[in-house]
Amino acid sequence: MNATQEQLRVKFEQALVAAFGAEYAGVDPILVTASNPKFGDYQANVALSLSGRLGKQPRAIAAAIVEKLDVSEICKPPEIAGPGFINLKLKTEYLEAQLQAIQADSRLGIPATKTPQREVVDFSSPNIAKEMHVGHLRSTIIGDSIARVLEFQGHDVLRLNHVGDWGTQFGMLIAYLREVYPEALTTANALDIGDLVTFYRKAKLRFDADEAFQETARQEVVRLQAGAEDTLHAWKLLCEQSRQEFQVIYDLLDVSVIERGESFYNPLLPTVVEDLEKSGLLVENQGAKCVFVEGFTNREGEPLPLIVQKSDGGYNYATTDLAALRYRIQKDEAKRIIYVTDAGQANHFAQFFKVAGKAGWIPEDVELVHVPFGLVLGEDGKKFKTRSGDTVRLRDLLDEAITRARADLEIRLKEEEREETEEFINKVAEVVGISAVKYADLSQNRTSNYIFSYDKMLDLKGNTAPYMLYAYARIQGISRKGEINFEELGDHAKILLQHETELALAKYLLQLDEVINTVEQDLLPHRLCEYLYELSKKFNQFYDRNQGVRVLDAEEPYRTSRLVLCDLTARTLKLGLSLLGIQVLERM
Ligand code: ARG
Repeated sequence: MNATQEQLRVKFEQALVAAFGAEYAGVDPILVTASNPKFGDYQANVALSLSGRLGKQPRAIAAAIVEKLDVSEICKPPEIAGPGFINLKLKTEYLEAQLQAIQADSRLGIPATKTPQREVVDFSSPNIAKEMHVGHLRSTIIGDSIARVLEFQGHDVLRLNHVGDWGTQFGMLIAYLREVYPEALTTANALDIGDLVTFYRKAKLRFDADEAFQETARQEVVRLQAGAEDTLHAWKLLCEQSRQEFQVIYDLLDVSVIERGESFYNPLLPTVVEDLEKSGLLVENQGAKCVFVEGFTNREGEPLPLIVQKSDGGYNYATTDLAALRYRIQKDEAKRIIYVTDAGQANHFAQFFKVAGKAGWIPEDVELVHVPFGLVLGEDGKKFKTRSGDTVRLRDLLDEAITRARADLEIRLKEEEREETEEFINKVAEVVGISAVKYADLSQNRTSNYIFSYDKMLDLKGNTAPYMLYAYARIQGISRKGEINFEELGDHAKILLQHETELALAKYLLQLDEVINTVEQDLLPHRLCEYLYELSKKFNQFYDRNQGVRVLDAEEPYRTSRLVLCDLTARTLKLGLSLLGIQVLERM
């Protein structure tokens, strides 16, 4: 709901009470954005919904409401249409005043939330010594954007990287490290063991081929769990190496996230199992400790347990998640915990949420949300791979996007006969390349799979980052051309909306708060992308030589008013893009 809808809601409440009595105070006016601008801007459907309760025809109810409805400051006289819809058209003066008000505000009139709370966003979360793959890239990009939106809304956001830094695979890795780099286990210095993914592959080959090695690996796990110094040292070394590799990606993406890996919760695992035991939920199944909750079955239709402790005493992914959940509720005092992972883990989350609920660990005021996303596919519609069939390294993927952005830019510079410095070219290529990858991901409804295509994401036309960045730079170009400093237009420069395209742009500019509120609720960043794309189109219509208005060569007071609209559009784009983790360029 935006500020205007909020005001209208209050007016409706008053009218309902005046028309039908105090007991109608809480009735929802069912205010929606009009489906067709011909009918107005908003439509209230409350008359239809009250028909049963009042035992009257909706049109008669609508008439009774309208008679008491005082919206003259906001709207033109309301009209009743069809079976009883109340159509509302915003007054131009009202729009002008609204825009004037947001102009002076760095938050563009968007109030921070009245109910700030601690929210955990658990995202990115790659696994040590394993490939940080495109799934983690999606989690990183989507999670970062969600965190940015919540932060902007004024929530106290804890960005957590639930890194997979514990587990039996470390036995194999450490055993292998002891073999090939024995000095690594004793020297204090970090050791460069090269690419960890290759190291992992070699260790795995060794592990699969040799039973004696498997036994050594198992012993290393035991030593690790017991806290043996040299083994622990090796483990830290591996984590540190991975951390450095992950950081390269985070730096490129300009993402910050606090590492709190699985190992952090190790000391808490035994009590998770004990407490489940105490609450009577624990069942022994072939030596493993499990919890059964209804609604989860395997392929054969048999009840699927959540295993919290294996028969060998080891703990599982789910056990750690239960411990982390309790920690986040008790110690972090989180009121909403958001997990951003691929849709393939939906069952895991649903199941452990349910177990935690049954155990009574989730207070009523705490909300748990799994934010699933689909797969990244290659242009052939199959799993995203390199030409040779290998998984794509994220570093390479981002570099490739930057390289291609650079090539596109160089062609454009040649066409436009422009000379630019190397510094300019590097900067534009990096911003465009990275934004293109981010935007391509965020602009899709995250629940669906999406096809990764450099050509599409770098296209200057269409719903892409370059298009959006270009719209922003184009507006800055207006200020350069007219030698106008947007900031000096005056905080309350008069706004006059005459032309249809101006009105359409103005109305749209005022909808940003509604969009941000929606993203805060449903955690779907593509809604923000859609809004920004639509805004750019509305701007282009407004600025269009034929269908739009004149700006720089318009008469005063229209010239200033239109320049303010340009500035507001640019600032809206900049703010919106920043919530997607995208930086703007003044020129490109
Ligand atoms: N490390 C996991 C993976 O790569 C993701 C962890 C997500 N977070 C969580 N609390 N389970 O699939």
